[in-house]
Amino acid sequence: MRNLITLFDLTAAEIEQVLDRGVRIKADYDRGVREPLLQGRTLALLFQKPSLRTRVSFECGMAHMGGSSLFLGKDVGWGERESIADFAQVLGQFVDVIACRANAHERVIELAEHAGCPVINALTDYSHPCQALADVLTLRERHPGAKSLKLAYVGDANNVARSLAICCARLGIAFSIAAPRGYQFEQELFDRIRKDSPDADLQQTEDPVEAVRDAAGVYTDVWISMGQEAETEKRKQALASYQVNGELMKHAPASACFLHCLPAHRGLEVSADVIDGPQSAVIQQAGNRMHAQKGLLAWVFGV
Ligand code: CP
Ligand code: NVA
Repeated sequence: MRNLITLFDLTAAEIEQVLDRGVRIKADYDRGVREPLLQGRTLALLFQKPSLRTRVSFECGMAHMGGSSLFLGKDVGWGERESIADFAQVLGQFVDVIACRANAHERVIELAEHAGCPVINALTDYSHPCQALADVLTLRERHPGAKSLKLAYVGDANNVARSLAICCARLGIAFSIAAPRGYQFEQELFDRIRKDSPDADLQQTEDPVEAVRDAAGVYTDVWISMGQEAETEKRKQALASYQVNGELMKHAPASACFLHCLPAHRGLEVSADVIDGPQSAVIQQAGNRMHAQKGLLAWVFGV
């Protein structure tokens, strides 16, 4: 039984297996084939924060694969109405897998310790591994056959950025992040990635122009993640010069795509001309959430 709490939980070969399967399932889906690989299996979606993409892509993914899902919102009261240990042990008897979106990363770890079934991190304050799987799939789709790839991330070194850094390091994709001091990766993450993937090409700079040079994809995410609303003004000021806009994109190759996990805020982390322009891959990227997660579910169940 395996969990996906962060992408450190999967080897490079396992990530490739998940992505390969996702690509094949996507091709089947596009020609109208939906193989019922998960008949009789049930996924619980345990969410403490809002979601469109993650929730719906998991729900539809399970339905397409012949399984079912049930959405459990705040009202189930995990960690409030009863302990996480009790909650997890009970839920784990009913369902085959849990995807959990939690305020605190530690809650998902605790849930996984007690659930007795696989637990997938559907976003925490620390990481968003399912997002990174779809993002790498999209980057590769945009650059078919490329021998080497570089992904640049501009903005807050947040949950999405961490998952991308781990995923890219594992897969041999160069990763360069531009963030201001105070919003950069913690040294501990760098050290762990370097230990885990000694050949990783991982750069951190304060200069967005330097980060996007030679990049196959330029990525950004919101400056104010869910739960950080009290820091809104401070974050807007700190990150003001980290907007991905037409001027910055001129420093990346013309073939670079623009990526964003969505939801996006035009005029803050990205300008409208970029996210709505010809280099933007964000809608394709959001669609790939479902395909990548189907690959992940097939891996979780070994089918
Ligand atoms: N990108 C992403 O995880 O979107 P949702 O918050 O809508 O699930
Ligand atoms: N960093 C964002 C991602 C949303 C999908 C957040 O945590 O709110």
